Amino acid sequence: MTRLLFVQASPRGGQSQSNQVAETYLTALRAANPRLEVDMLPLWETDLPVFDGDKAAAKVNVMLGQEHNTAQKTAWGQIVEVANRFIAADRYLFAVPMWNSSIPYRLKHYIDVIHQPGLLWGLKPESGYFGLLENKHATLVMTSGAYSQAFPSPAFGVDHQSGYLRDWLNQAGVTAIDEVRFQPTMLTQDPAGDFERAKAAATKLAMAHGRVCAGE
Ligand SMILES: Cc1cc2nc3c(=O)[nH]c(=O)nc-3n(C[C@H](O)[C@H](O)[C@H](O)COP(=O)(O)O)c2cc1C
Repeated sequence: MTRLLFVQASPRGGQSQSNQVAETYLTALRAANPRLEVDMLPLWETDLPVFDGDKAAAKVNVMLGQEHNTAQKTAWGQIVEVANRFIAADRYLFAVPMWNSSIPYRLKHYIDVIHQPGLLWGLKPESGYFGLLENKHATLVMTSGAYSQAFPSPAFGVDHQSGYLRDWLNQAGVTAIDEVRFQPTMLTQDPAGDFERAKAAATKLAMAHGRVCAGE
């Protein structure tokens, strides 16, 4: 059984174009693999623990191999609970709008909570970071209003959205990554047509992925 975690980074729910393109991908993936187990994670409707001083101290203590005090133990327990849900997935589907060249802060908050030593990554003084996640796959559905890979940058914006997500996932050990872009959503003569083309690309990708998942 393949388990997919659907991370929704837009607060716009059903109006969100990244969510809608990702939903199209998910519908096609489910059709190809009816046994797919889906865990929905709408980040703006999900309580995330505040990443406070106790959490930062707990993280550093794990890196240094030191004991946690009582407050840090509680803090680390909250981190592990959120991270374990992420770790339990085989596949990830991210729906992410560009916000100020980067990702919505709610997704950054989530990453700050789960991206932890001993859970998602390790660090060797001689060779650097290594990811602890294995055999995972991520699909990134990304939107932006003005930015497009086809337009001059920085005039139409700079892409710290896909680069950041890919670098983070790579550091955690997720290197199999595909993407669907609906960019730009606003600065186009044909927003409706581009939206349909993005959904068609999402369906095509899901059908290719579905063949892999169904062959489990
Ligand atoms: C707070 C905020 C910041 C944004 N920053 C950018 C940006 O830097 N570059 C850009 O091209 N679009 C930007 N946009 C536009 C959104 O990326 C665009 O409308 C996208 O389609 C929204 O996706 P959604 O429908 O999934 O929420 C921003 C939108 C908001 C609300």
